[in-house]
Amino acid sequence: MEQHIHTLNQKLAEAKLGGGQQRIEAQHKKGKLTARERIHFLMDPDSFEEIGALVLHRCTDFGMADQQFPGDGVVTGYGTVAGRLVYVFAQDFTVFGGSLSETHAEKICKVMDLAVKNGAPLIGLNDSGGARIQEGVNSLGGYADIFYRNVQASGVIPQISAIMGPCAGGAVYSPAMTDFILMVEGSSYMFVTGPNVVKTVTNEEVSSEELGGASTHASKSGVTHLTSANDIECIAQIKRLLSFIPQNCEEKAPHLPFEIEEEYRDELTDIIPENANQPYDMKDVIAAIVDQESFFEVHEAYAENMVVGFARLAGRSIGIVANQPVSLAGVLDVNASKKGARFVRFCDCFNIPLLVLEDVPGFLPGTDQEWNGIITNGAKLLYAFSEATVPRITVITRKAYGGAYDVMNSKHIGADMNFAWPTAEIAVMGAKGASEIIFKKEIDAANDPVAKLQEKEKEYADTFANPYRAAARGFIDEVIQPRETRRKLIKAFTMLENKTVNRPKRKHGNVPL
Ligand code: HXC
Repeated sequence: MEQHIHTLNQKLAEAKLGGGQQRIEAQHKKGKLTARERIHFLMDPDSFEEIGALVLHRCTDFGMADQQFPGDGVVTGYGTVAGRLVYVFAQDFTVFGGSLSETHAEKICKVMDLAVKNGAPLIGLNDSGGARIQEGVNSLGGYADIFYRNVQASGVIPQISAIMGPCAGGAVYSPAMTDFILMVEGSSYMFVTGPNVVKTVTNEEVSSEELGGASTHASKSGVTHLTSANDIECIAQIKRLLSFIPQNCEEKAPHLPFEIEEEYRDELTDIIPENANQPYDMKDVIAAIVDQESFFEVHEAYAENMVVGFARLAGRSIGIVANQPVSLAGVLDVNASKKGARFVRFCDCFNIPLLVLEDVPGFLPGTDQEWNGIITNGAKLLYAFSEATVPRITVITRKAYGGAYDVMNSKHIGADMNFAWPTAEIAVMGAKGASEIIFKKEIDAANDPVAKLQEKEKEYADTFANPYRAAARGFIDEVIQPRETRRKLIKAFTMLENKTVNRPKRKHGNVPL
């Protein structure tokens, strides 16, 4: 027996060493942790159980039969994070650059299947040179097996992808089909074709970082939701993200114990400026409403005119979608609509109630927006809200103009409770624009057209630049003081806790993609 155990231990020790000490040092020199170190920092102490540590690749071409590393470039298994079960795969760059072979893919598929069957999140720590070049189509098949499972698991269990090294070619499409992508600044990149191919095809000179680094994808493409300075920070973000979301689509998110007190927040009273055209930071509103320092913003640097993220309200996990007046006056454009829609759909998949904070002057006009499909993209947000069955509450803090009023979780598209502050202006458009159109003849004929316009503007504003017309119709359930917002929201979300909605039978809707 002793000899058998010795052999086993030897094999496991070999597996633990991945591609060997030299390659581990090279990984560290790049400021990166190894696959096992990443798992160590992610999981609760002693909770990780590895699956498939002794798997070997089957390739015999190009001298590969002599190059075997137990585990084949990916560490897979399960464990707990904050006491909750998760499944994980971490690609090991020290073994063939973390490249994906047929067996490497099989290992990933195995934990994906277990995650779905057992209803727990799947976390992928990606660090890979892509398809194992020596394996050809076997590797491509492996990728497709993973892609297929990503789609089958979508909306069933949360899937989180951290990009902690290269991620290129078709390999990017697995993370792209998961719920959240995190990237590490300086050491990760994602692109379909790298700088060399770009140079050949389009003659553009671009570095890997500029083409597909973390800040590029955080701000320009919106591919990544979160970025971090290093591996440790990235892992901390994964843990924080997990704390807001449930294990699977059948469960509710963890609800932390919370003592409810008076819950008035006087600081909300002074946030809206006297001048309706002056901006204010919606994040100040969020901070004053939610539990202390609980707001966890995602997609922060992309489409800053829309703010999305998770927070806790009296211990309950909620998703927040808010217009941001300090950026483009909070207007809805193509990117903000896509960002909002994606977030709403995630929250709806996983039973996370939605809070909408609205101050929106409308959709952004212009050829750029029209030619980039503001129609289809704005429809995504409208579709996402209309289809969401989670508890949905809106607070209109100031402007709610035009189609954007309808789109931003209005009563008409199924919101459960719609509040407005006394500063709300719910109208087809701003008073000036409206007066210029409907009183044009009167203004043109006046001796003093400027004075006439001002008079008409005031008349229109007095009629519509308030929440009372909408409240009179029941489109707003209650006009509330800013200071009582948190209290009202806690009560309303508690009231909506057991909300159920039955939709007509269908295969699936046809979201305007
Ligand atoms: C096999 C690979 C590999 C790969 C890297 N290695 N990529 N082995 N298949 N795809 C090996 C190297 O031979 C090397 O082995 C080790 O990993 C580390 O690689 P280095 O080049 O020394 O590291 P670095 O300088 O950091 O560069 C990393 C890299 C580069 C940028 C990822 O290796 C690279 O460009 N690799 C090829 C990327 C690629 O073209 N992949 C295919 C993409 S197409 P040793 O023994 O020296 O340690 C694709 C299609 C997917 O993925 C389609 C899905 C549908």
